[in-house]
Amino acid sequence: MQKGELVANGKAKSIYKTDDPKKLIMHFRNDTSAFDGEKIEQLDRKGMVNNKFNAFIMQRLEEGGVPTHYESTLSDDEAIVKNLDMLPIECVVRNISTGSLCKRLGVAEGLDLDPPLFEFFLKNDALHDPMINDFHIISFKWGTQKEIETMKELTFKVNGILKKLFLDAGILLVDYKLEFGRYDGKLVLGDEFSPDGCRLWDVKTREKLDKDRFRQGLGGVVEAYEAVAQRLGIAI
Ligand code: C5P
Repeated sequence: MQKGELVANGKAKSIYKTDDPKKLIMHFRNDTSAFDGEKIEQLDRKGMVNNKFNAFIMQRLEEGGVPTHYESTLSDDEAIVKNLDMLPIECVVRNISTGSLCKRLGVAEGLDLDPPLFEFFLKNDALHDPMINDFHIISFKWGTQKEIETMKELTFKVNGILKKLFLDAGILLVDYKLEFGRYDGKLVLGDEFSPDGCRLWDVKTREKLDKDRFRQGLGGVVEAYEAVAQRLGIAI
């Protein structure tokens, strides 16, 4: 497959055209960012680890009935994905309270959320990804009512599949963010699923095994990602 021109350069990934207009190449870079791009560092091996992690998770989700954009792995740090028309929306599910939820509502950290919470955010760094609800999505035509229902249904379906997958490896899926796009008239999971976009805690010690290690300057970021990958049986 021919790698064409760069079409998008995100904070941690770059997207390239291919000779097939329906396919793109997603390059996972070593760049790691936090606080809307205010803190940026290069972390050795992270692009490769996240590419393999994402490929494994996307395949488990596809098997579980969640349509994803993942097609195949092209190289250590590149994947071939479907060319989606992305919605400017982030879908977050939370199983345990932490992060922006605690700051926003003043609730304690570490509470089990039953039922899990679902939140929409607008994907806009300049505005610090403000929280939105169904009405904003409809009024501003960022998505349809049917797409809202599908995003909720699929994001919770992901929770059912991945909570078990991680728990079987002794890891709590605390929260995560998903993004969706349109492809052939239906919504498909896009972007990535890696420890950059979710929170993972060791079930016994509650040690953080995700990007909070970078946000909080705890060190051992990629080492933690690799430890999770190893516990899931992902060959890195
Ligand atoms: O910061 P907050 O607590 O709202 O994050 C909830 C979840 O969504 C976390 O797992 C975080 O890593 C993820 N997230 C993300 N990208 C963003 C915002 C949140 O991956 N822009």
